[in-house]
Amino acid sequence: MNPVKVGLLGLGTVGGGTVNVLKRNAKEIARRAGRGIVIVQAAARDLNKPRICDTTGIKLGTDPNEVVNNPEVEIVIELIGGDTLAKEMVLKAIEQGKHVVTANKALIAKHGNEIFAKAQAKGVIVAFEAAVAGGIPIIKAIREGLAGNQIQWLAGIINGTGNFILTEMRDKGRDFDDVLQEAQALGYAEADPTFDVEGIDAAHKLTILASIAFGIPLQFNKTYTEGITRITREDVTYAEALGYRIKHLGVARRTAKGIELRVHPTLIPARRLIANVDGVKNAVLVMGDAVGPTLYYGAGAGAEPTASAVVADLVDVVRAMTADPENRVPHLAFQADALANDPILSMDEVETAYYLRMQALDKPGVMARVASILGEQQISIEAIIQKEPLEDSQFANIIMLTHRVQEKQMNQALAKIESLDTIDGRVTRIRLETLDSSK
Ligand code: HSE
Repeated sequence: MNPVKVGLLGLGTVGGGTVNVLKRNAKEIARRAGRGIVIVQAAARDLNKPRICDTTGIKLGTDPNEVVNNPEVEIVIELIGGDTLAKEMVLKAIEQGKHVVTANKALIAKHGNEIFAKAQAKGVIVAFEAAVAGGIPIIKAIREGLAGNQIQWLAGIINGTGNFILTEMRDKGRDFDDVLQEAQALGYAEADPTFDVEGIDAAHKLTILASIAFGIPLQFNKTYTEGITRITREDVTYAEALGYRIKHLGVARRTAKGIELRVHPTLIPARRLIANVDGVKNAVLVMGDAVGPTLYYGAGAGAEPTASAVVADLVDVVRAMTADPENRVPHLAFQADALANDPILSMDEVETAYYLRMQALDKPGVMARVASILGEQQISIEAIIQKEPLEDSQFANIIMLTHRVQEKQMNQALAKIESLDTIDGRVTRIRLETLDSSK
């Protein structure tokens, strides 16, 4: 059988990795797919840029339209990034009846509902395994492997750059900016690195994971998003002393009132496997009612790990090309007409435990006043550490862990605590998740 001809948009880190993997593993890939898979044409913004791949045999140009319009091209790989030109090209490819493989999490999180509706109408596949957690086949695992379960919650370290920064800060005491620059040089960071450190990239990925886990439309604008920029070495040290690690997590949980969708730094028990996922690695913990907890681990970014997911999608698409569209795995795991409209909960309604750190005047009654404000809001304290003031300061650091409580109640308590003249500045609050089977 003739090989399937593929067009590639974007020849950067992941594009280069994809060319290399497809060439190196061509025989194995053909044995798996039943046909060879060949990139015949590619578009890149700047043809003079140094490449990590050999483009011999690939027709190169700068106009992505030429690739999409090439009648020979049956599958378009979109690795441009962003959601303007990429969206235009993906919709154009779908319009022409071509299948699409993309690594573009922003595109899927923000425009996936529209894109999948168009793809379904045209009977084509839009595959996006590489959009979440790089090389980890997490989309396939949730969408197919766990199809017998009601997913109760999932929690993931889904931004490699952020995890790399937190790990280097903790282990080597390195500076935030210095580590970020290294992540950029290694090709892990987003074109705009604020996407990594402010949690936007993780929010894109969590939006996608929640949709396929719970069968709900993609709702990026309802995902609560907080990054790692305010995490201090001090908090990392106190967390460790209490038996916890600070990780930047995406959490999606189904509750009786609705769905929690949130991305933020989180204390997790140091004994959990996921607490030991370091560097650029990602991991996603998924709790199914039948299977219990399952953990998926691997490289969350980088040229070949992400290419691994792109190529797996290509193989899937080639295998499914001849199948009746009705019998394909639905884009969002559930049949398009069976998506649920569960509400996404506001952060006020979310319930978690908390780590609190405050600077308190070192005199009698201060701790009692703080504890009574927490008590008035039904917030129960699980642990307290008080560090004596440094020689030149009147303020002692008080660190507390609380039991689970609604964020609304915690906000009210913190406003009162911060208004005390015995408390200096803002209270640091980091959410805490035990990630055990019951919660
Ligand atoms: N910037 C992303 C990360 C790349 O660091 O995880 C993979 O999506």
